[in-house]
Amino acid sequence: MITFGAPRIEEDEIRAVVRTLRSGWISKGPRATDFETAFRRYERAKFAVSVNSCTAALHLALVAAGIGEGDEVITTPLTFCATANVVMHVGAKPVFADVKRSSMNIDPEAIRKSITRRTRAVIPVHLAGRPCEMQAILSIARKHKLTVISDCAHAIEATYHGTKVGSIGDVAVFSFYATKNLTTGEGGMITTNHSRLARVMALDSLHGLSRHAWQRYSNKRPIHYSVVRPGFKYNMTDIQAAMGLKQLEKIERYLKIRERIWTQYDEAFASLPVVVPAPAERGTRHARHLYTLLLNLEHLRKSRDEIRVLLLKEGIGTGVHFVTLHREPLFKRVFGYRRGDFPNAEWISERTLSLPLSAKLTPSEVRRVIAAVTRVIRKVER
Ligand SMILES: Cc1ncc(COP(=O)(O)O)c(C=O)c1O
Repeated sequence: MITFGAPRIEEDEIRAVVRTLRSGWISKGPRATDFETAFRRYERAKFAVSVNSCTAALHLALVAAGIGEGDEVITTPLTFCATANVVMHVGAKPVFADVKRSSMNIDPEAIRKSITRRTRAVIPVHLAGRPCEMQAILSIARKHKLTVISDCAHAIEATYHGTKVGSIGDVAVFSFYATKNLTTGEGGMITTNHSRLARVMALDSLHGLSRHAWQRYSNKRPIHYSVVRPGFKYNMTDIQAAMGLKQLEKIERYLKIRERIWTQYDEAFASLPVVVPAPAERGTRHARHLYTLLLNLEHLRKSRDEIRVLLLKEGIGTGVHFVTLHREPLFKRVFGYRRGDFPNAEWISERTLSLPLSAKLTPSEVRRVIAAVTRVIRKVER
């Protein structure tokens, strides 16, 4: 079985984690601080805050930006539910704006049309690792005084006209979930160039305490902390950070491996009734997180979900990114979204299929994926 999104974990990560376990300090401490420094340097951002998930990072960003009851936050319906759930956590309304079919990313024009006097922020998601049209988005945000929280869960390595996605907009958030380009099992990071936002998010990531445990317990004399904000328990641990530091050292090497697999897939699937992902837009670097085929359903006798079952029988795990959020019961019930509201997102949602794309894949596994996809698609072709 080729598992979808299997992480590549090597002996040096295992040794680093064991060293941390033996060090006597396993919660947020020196390793997490080192990881924050290394990560903010990689993203060329001024500040970084390590947290226990990207969901926590999104929540902290909204709180720090002062978004709450009665506010509206514009985002894409083609994302993981966390992006919109956190908007509800702060009492605001997620307002979806449709995507472009070619990039699958939020359409700046749709953002513009969705702005009301309640709009306070926009959360562009760099889906699959493809950077959004940030120039247009930033210019709309500036005009309407909106905070830009960039969901970079898929896009650690992505750049937009020479700038890392982690240093564009007001706040950028990253995921280190098991399937991500860099993993710490679970984990996340926030980067920003705003010192005030960085300070507030760092405080809120650990109960709103003025000092974190490492500073309180490791000094020669006891130091007291003050509770300065009603914070959360969102900090990363040193165990996660030890793994993250090693993964970050390999991030560019692993990207090259995924780029090679990407090219092999593009060539292998060119003659099938599918659409391979569009090339990266000029001046951008795609982080190659997800290889998403669009099935040409008009020329196939089976649905995407039936094709997934056939692939599973061939031992190939696949993913769907994503079932569009406005069709989920929560967003239908609470906000009254309906089929037809976001036609491009719906069109993609019905036919998108993510294939295994991991630095862990061996050349023979890549050949197996190609052979199985070709066999299954040919079998169900009209
Ligand atoms: C686009 C996007 N945003 C946010 C998240 C949430 O990340 P995490 O699982 O680290 O909370 C995910 C997770 O898959 C995601 O795909």
